[in-house]
Amino acid sequence: MPQTIYVLNGPNLNLLGTREPAIYGHATLADVERLCAETASSVGVTAVCRQSNHEGQLIDWIHEARDKQVSGIVINAGAYTHTSIALHDALVGVQIPTVEVHVSNVFAREDFRHHSFIAKAAFASLCGFGIDGYRLAITGLAAKISASSKS
Ligand code: DQA
Repeated sequence: MPQTIYVLNGPNLNLLGTREPAIYGHATLADVERLCAETASSVGVTAVCRQSNHEGQLIDWIHEARDKQVSGIVINAGAYTHTSIALHDALVGVQIPTVEVHVSNVFAREDFRHHSFIAKAAFASLCGFGIDGYRLAITGLAAKISASSKS
């Protein structure tokens, strides 16, 4: 049975493709999810992709990941990245290897995007690669999962 990872996208990421294309590009959330499914299968894991505009729903999925013994999480928490102690606490609480992703380079943008509550709960953070960041995140996460299953 391939191991499962969750790819969680937060608020406004359902608008990818039409939302500020100069910053986020033209790819849609469906394109992101297709890329995640293909990447996951190429590295021997299964990606379950979900998106919500609601903080509590994202927290429930993080808890569900532990209940279902999910091996890793890739999360783009959107603007909750910069505000949500609750998402930080959920990720710390479940102790599942997590990679934070952002489509845009948050450090080259407004000051309020420079702090991430998710980063402290993740073993790696990626930003600025556009949607390719999801491919890089899944590849790195799968390598981490495989290394820790051997140790
Ligand atoms: C984002 C960056 C966040 O600052 C922003 O609020 C988003 C998208 C990104 O993917 O670049 O919604 O997470």
